[in-house]
Amino acid sequence: MCGIVGYLGDQQAYPILIKGLHRLEYRGYDSAGVSMISQSGELNVYKAKGKVVALEESVKNDDISGTIGIAHTRWATHGEPNATNAHPHYSQSKNLSLVHNGIIENYKTLRTELESRGYTFCSETDTEVLVQLVECMMDTHKSDLFTAVQFALKSVVGAYAIAILEKSNPDQLICARKGSPLIIGVGKNENGNAEYYLGSDATPIVEYTNQVIYLNDEEIAIMDRKGRLDIVNLQNVQQTPHLHTLQMNLDQLEKGGFPHFMLKEIWEQPNALRTCIRGRLNKEQKDVILSGIIDNKEKFKNCRRIIICACGTSWHSALIGKYFIEEACQIPVEVEYASEFRYRNPVIFEDDVVIAVSQSGETADTLAAIQLAKSKGAFLYGICNVIGSSIARATDSGTYLHVGAEIGVASTKAFTGQVITLSLLGLVIAKVRNTLSDDMYNMLVDELFMIPDKMQWTLENNKNIDEFAQKFTYCKNFIYLGRGYNYPVALEGALKLKEISYIHAEGYPAAEMKHGPIALIDEEMPVVVIAPRQGMYDKVVSNIQEIKSRNGKIISVVTEGDTIVKEMSDYSFVIPDTRDCFVPMLAVIPLQLLSYYVATAKGRNVDQPRNLAKSVTVE
Ligand code: M6R
Repeated sequence: MCGIVGYLGDQQAYPILIKGLHRLEYRGYDSAGVSMISQSGELNVYKAKGKVVALEESVKNDDISGTIGIAHTRWATHGEPNATNAHPHYSQSKNLSLVHNGIIENYKTLRTELESRGYTFCSETDTEVLVQLVECMMDTHKSDLFTAVQFALKSVVGAYAIAILEKSNPDQLICARKGSPLIIGVGKNENGNAEYYLGSDATPIVEYTNQVIYLNDEEIAIMDRKGRLDIVNLQNVQQTPHLHTLQMNLDQLEKGGFPHFMLKEIWEQPNALRTCIRGRLNKEQKDVILSGIIDNKEKFKNCRRIIICACGTSWHSALIGKYFIEEACQIPVEVEYASEFRYRNPVIFEDDVVIAVSQSGETADTLAAIQLAKSKGAFLYGICNVIGSSIARATDSGTYLHVGAEIGVASTKAFTGQVITLSLLGLVIAKVRNTLSDDMYNMLVDELFMIPDKMQWTLENNKNIDEFAQKFTYCKNFIYLGRGYNYPVALEGALKLKEISYIHAEGYPAAEMKHGPIALIDEEMPVVVIAPRQGMYDKVVSNIQEIKSRNGKIISVVTEGDTIVKEMSDYSFVIPDTRDCFVPMLAVIPLQLLSYYVATAKGRNVDQPRNLAKSVTVE
């Protein structure tokens, strides 16, 4: 949550910062700000409530010159979203400006202490406390900024990624991180002079350089125009910077002719999943290779159980993974909300494998959950999309989704990418534990291989959801039902609708209806039922009858050629036939499209829905 951008070099900083903020806007969009040291040596700060465009509008007549700057797009934690609480924040003397992503938990104590020393505050934020604290440390210890940042961060409890400018030192940029992501891009201009870029992720950087350093927790970096790049930790131990080459291209960051990233990402799914399985699923040799498992086969062979920790959509894919791994590998799998798991002293054995599933790889609760599991000796495996993310680096081994950057706040291709990756994982574990017959294994490999083509078919054959969705914009509630592998799909369909259309929606296991929720059914209530031919078809047919006899409106997801459920439904979406365990990757597509078109018909901002941020880096 919140996005940080920074630049130091020969170019004008403002255009780079603004472009970077647009790229990071998915991380928070309630206010934005920039700070540059101008050509005349002023440390300017400009801020505006609302999106980055509001900031651009507001600085039209201001001095936005300068070749060093920091910028921020905010998702409010402390203090309402307004220009005063927006970042960057000045220090008391206005010699420093600072941007921050994270939460300073002891900010109240620190603020009281600083107030007693004469510091006054303009905002309600924890960030202003941080910048004042740094200035206080400079004064108290008569130190330079770098040392003062070290002192200040030692007294801070909480999470932070920060970038800081000093008016009296326009040639240096300082940043630090703990618990919130921060990447340094290392470039060179045409004259061979050093240029440095900062980003909460790689998207503001990739346009200028593909050489990056992922800052680790409790590391502080100092960069200057002469090419100095030093990283030390809070204990003042020098760290060796490791350069990584980004695997990202600019096309992934553009809408490519689609009106929204979400629609683009829905349509990207067939190709995204082809990339995900490329080199991993070998149809000819009937083999599945996950490099993250090659050296750790014994862990999966001998483990007592698997625990999967995740949040939101990733939790839904984890639940599908559980069903598949339990069925294919005959090993108990528990799926935990990371936010609950981390605080309830769970039983974790040293021979447990704990899997973190996270698109961003930065979700604070998921990261904390695996850190807890690590402290109890479990083997950690990460399934992340963002390369070099905190969870990817905190785990012992893992598999990247390789579905490309997901920009829309509502997760779509990451969900199906996670499901196919968990399916690959299940097949590898089944092989290692010898729990599937060769025939079954080969058949699953063949079927999994066809999923991307079947997704393409699903997209091509559900184009009219656009018109159909218009009829449901008046609805206040939706129910989604599924059984077995499709219960998590019902949860995911409901979450998609809720988060981008703001229509209340609930997902239930279909058979649970009669234990309470059926009381909600009337002629106003659309009920979306995932009813493929595979799985408990007859049972779902009975559940549909129960709803119909109470006048509920049935929208179904059915297998191509189905007539029974189709006739019972007010409307049906069709998907191709596949194995029960792989249906979710197809069935979710019409549900993604339904939520997208209902939301756009209601005029919602589907890529940046209210109150949400793509990457939830606070608790
Ligand atoms: O990056 P992660 O997969 O860890 O994110 C978890 C959730 O915050 C995320 O899936 C969220 O629920 C999405 N907005 C759902 O579309």
